[in-house]
Amino acid sequence: MARTKPLTEQVAIVTGGGTGIGRAFTEALAAAGAQVVIASRRPEVLRRTADEINATLNAERVFPYEFDIRNRARIEELVNDVFARWQSIDVLINNSGLAVPETIEEITDEGWDTVMETNLRGVMQLVRTVLPHMRRNDFGDIVNVSSQAGKHGYADVPSYCASKFGLLGYAEALRDHMRKIGANIRVFNFCPGLVDVENTRPEQTSREGFIHVANMTRTLMYALSLDRNVVLEDINLYAR
Ligand SMILES: NC(=O)c1ccc[n+]([C@@H]2O[C@H](COP(=O)([O-])OP(=O)(O)OC[C@H]3O[C@@H](n4cnc5c(N)ncnc54)[C@H](OP(=O)(O)O)[C@@H]3O)[C@@H](O)[C@H]2O)c1
Repeated sequence: MARTKPLTEQVAIVTGGGTGIGRAFTEALAAAGAQVVIASRRPEVLRRTADEINATLNAERVFPYEFDIRNRARIEELVNDVFARWQSIDVLINNSGLAVPETIEEITDEGWDTVMETNLRGVMQLVRTVLPHMRRNDFGDIVNVSSQAGKHGYADVPSYCASKFGLLGYAEALRDHMRKIGANIRVFNFCPGLVDVENTRPEQTSREGFIHVANMTRTLMYALSLDRNVVLEDINLYAR
């Protein structure tokens, strides 16, 4: 029987957890009782998000951590610091990401590198650093936020599409590796269409063509609740 663990005993890292989809994921995980480290570049944004969620929950469950996913040394510090504090990393949500809107003919080396290093290379390095800890505890869930643009190409964001397609390929290889070594580590991929990260409160209506971010969080919590031997592969969520 694969090991299970209640969310109240789990520790999560959510990259880009200070804003948008990452913030919504963080709220849901913290509300379910997990400890959540939110990691990205802007400390003031992270601090504000952590303070707001902790105040709502009347408990300290969200912890800000300044890091740049393009910096290998900071990735190692993040993982080492989280593991030293809690002796486990149970959920890794690879949510940090950005697009540089340059067409095929406009692409600059700088734009291409920024997108690839943030959306793809950084994820690979973070997973590589977290994996030994998950394997040692024989427990883990890795959630990647790809995109509809990881399944379909769009002329205005070719580097973004390439990075998100690449992320799905990497994740599939990761899942196959976990299966081959018999690790109790699941890999989920979100491939959302447009998600409204401006109207995020439950009572707010999403803009036309966008989905409410609550659909992302409900799906995350559902996916995590599945049996350890169940593989829910790419999760495509689009506005009807
Ligand atoms: N919203 C949508 O319609 C949609 C649709 C499909 C997929 N997605 C994907 O969903 C994810 C979240 O996007 P979002 O819509 O919630 O936008 P967002 O609010 O801009 O979130 C992106 C997050 O990534 C972080 N980030 C960017 N560069 C980073 C770096 N070098 N190191 C560490 N963190 C970095 C940002 O924080 P800092 O600036 O503080 O670093 C920010 O919190 C992205 O991967 C995006 O591609 C979004």
